[in-house]
Amino acid sequence: MGFNESTRAIPLLLSASLFCLLGLGNCDLSLNYYNNSCPRTEDIVKEQVEKLYRKHGNTAVSWVRNLFHDCMLKSCDASLLLETTEATISEQTSPRSFGMRNFKYVNTIKDALEAECPVTVSCADVVALSAREAVVLLGGPYIPMRTGRRDSKQSYFEVVEDFIPNHNDSLDLVLSRFQSAGINTEGTVALLGAHSVGRVHCANLVNRLYPTVDPTIDQEYAEYLKRRCPNPNPDPKEVEYARNDNETPMVIDNIYHKNLLSHKGLLLVDQQLVSDPSTVSLVEMMAANNSYFHEIFASSLLLLSENNPLTGDEGEVRSDCRFVNSE
Ligand code: HEM
Ligand SMILES: *[C@@H]1O[C@H](CO)[C@@H](O)[C@H](O)[C@H]1NC(C)=O
Ligand SMILES: *[C@@H]1O[C@H](CO)[C@@H](O)[C@H](O)[C@H]1NC(C)=O
Ligand SMILES: *[C@@H]1O[C@H](CO)[C@@H](O)[C@H](O)[C@H]1NC(C)=O
Repeated sequence: MGFNESTRAIPLLLSASLFCLLGLGNCDLSLNYYNNSCPRTEDIVKEQVEKLYRKHGNTAVSWVRNLFHDCMLKSCDASLLLETTEATISEQTSPRSFGMRNFKYVNTIKDALEAECPVTVSCADVVALSAREAVVLLGGPYIPMRTGRRDSKQSYFEVVEDFIPNHNDSLDLVLSRFQSAGINTEGTVALLGAHSVGRVHCANLVNRLYPTVDPTIDQEYAEYLKRRCPNPNPDPKEVEYARNDNETPMVIDNIYHKNLLSHKGLLLVDQQLVSDPSTVSLVEMMAANNSYFHEIFASSLLLLSENNPLTGDEGEVRSDCRFVNSE
């Protein structure tokens, strides 16, 4: 750990144990949970995530989105990673998972762990730790995370839409969904800053462009988006997309919040953060101070990563993240 990382880690470590004592975090998880059973766990995840990032930079972006889609839905339990079988429909096939990618490389990380310690490190911890390492590679803060999560034995395909908001849902709905995962308004405004990396397909944008342009979009930016998405009815299989942040597309930074203030938010859920008095001042504060954004992003991602985990004897530790263990 470099000097910068360890100094930044201290306040978070304190807040992690305080959160636990106050009943806000999960006390069944612990720092360095695999210290005895698989001491190199966190190093292996870091090595694999870095190796993948050097070959396919956007894997890092995927690990951050994976944490959101897995942990927001009931629990951080790797239910997202289960593939469709005769018995299961994968959450990955939900319309809310549109555009998610790189799932095959989760297996690369898990295989490296299995080679060292078979059936020991849960896929849910792979989801959490890979996101933690990804955030660092994407220029975000280092977030110490507890481990010891267990994996679900089922997919929650049927209820994905009850937990993960849609691109055009109201701010009230978005805030209440995050509230259910223990994340307040400030945390929500910070977490949506993950949209400073990655891409959005035209299917999620065209309803802001056609038949008429949403008046909350900057005129020039709307012209640019229409050039990116010329078809009002895009073929969902077409790889047409716009970048969330053209200036630093691979950095988790407050350019997201600056863009919102200049009416260059991509999704409706992004842009409406500045249309509402309860969130606009938070957007302004984060746009003015990247350290403040990173601080709240880190504490909120930590909370999300500890949303209602399975621990102890609950669930199982999968040997292959794509399938439940056979009996
Ligand atoms: C109201 C909440 C949210 C909604 C409605 C939402 C929706 C979306 C949509 C529609 C996309 C574009 C998918 C595509 O067209 O390919 C996207 C991308 C993304 N989202 Fe979210 N999101 C939300 C919150 C979050 C949170 C909390 C995080 C992480 C902390 C996150 C991380 C990402 C990332 C990293 C991408 C880029 C993926 C890529 O380029 O592969 N999102 N989101
Ligand atoms: C790991 O476990 C060993 C022996 O069980 C202990 O001495 C050491 O302090 C532990 N390290 C951490 C970082 O928890
Ligand atoms: C939200 O967008 C979807 C298409 O992605 C559309 O079917 C739906 O009608 C929109 N909902 C609202 C409230 O505009
Ligand atoms: C920016 O935010 C950091 C972290 O919250 C805080 O310590 C610092 O004082 C803020 N800087 C300014 C100029 O407000």
